[in-house]
Amino acid sequence: MSFDRSIKIAPSILSADFANFGAEIRAIEAQGADWVHVDVMDGHFVPNLTFGPPAVKAFRPHVKTFMDVHLMIAPVDPYIEAYAEAGADMIVAHWEAGPHPHRTLQAIKAQGVKCGISLNPGTPASVISELLDLVDMVLVMSVNPGFGGQKFIPSSINKVRQVREMIGDREIHIQVDGGVDPSTVGSLVEAGADCFVAGSAVFKGGSVDKPEVYGQNIAAIRAAAEGALKAAQ
Ligand code: DX5
Ligand code: ZN
Repeated sequence: MSFDRSIKIAPSILSADFANFGAEIRAIEAQGADWVHVDVMDGHFVPNLTFGPPAVKAFRPHVKTFMDVHLMIAPVDPYIEAYAEAGADMIVAHWEAGPHPHRTLQAIKAQGVKCGISLNPGTPASVISELLDLVDMVLVMSVNPGFGGQKFIPSSINKVRQVREMIGDREIHIQVDGGVDPSTVGSLVEAGADCFVAGSAVFKGGSVDKPEVYGQNIAAIRAAAEGALKAAQ
């Protein structure tokens, strides 16, 4: 995949119908999703439990775009190989997940997949300064990870701006995750983010029987994001 900073919308299937993942993934992709975001939670690093490697492997054949797997687990290193083998296109680990984030990123790269580092809302941007030459993406969490449907934390906007300055000319995406909707996406674009995870804002009001609602929701986020991009240029 070649690098560019065009707007990408990555619906989080944490907000999908858990009895129907294949159809949900096909529906969001048909309705304009650029990536498919998979939230992996362990009940330890975050207070919720979701998908093990066999679940991710089952999602894989349905994803025709790009599957980013957001690991909210600690320890993370022992599970990297299994999630890569399950078919992740990108694996994102949390800076807070262990004492050796540099080693974690090396382990992800060694699997031949794209790699990302994620920052919780309470973690400053500065901690990743020595990791930037290793990553394809920085994920700025705009809620405390664990659940969909939480309120956007506004200080994330400034953190995105700081990360954007830090990355300079490097080909690194900036993703934001949590409370992203048409009302919050504009300031994040203006600050320098290009990839937006959205759970509630994509899935609300829709279903596999009403997929056009997913399409309208994705289009509304994209329109707000692209409007802000134009205004900033
Ligand atoms: C939170 C997850 C998010 C979440 C976003 O821990 O990482 O991906 O599903 O959900 P919304 O868009 O509803 O805030
Ligand atoms: Zn996520």
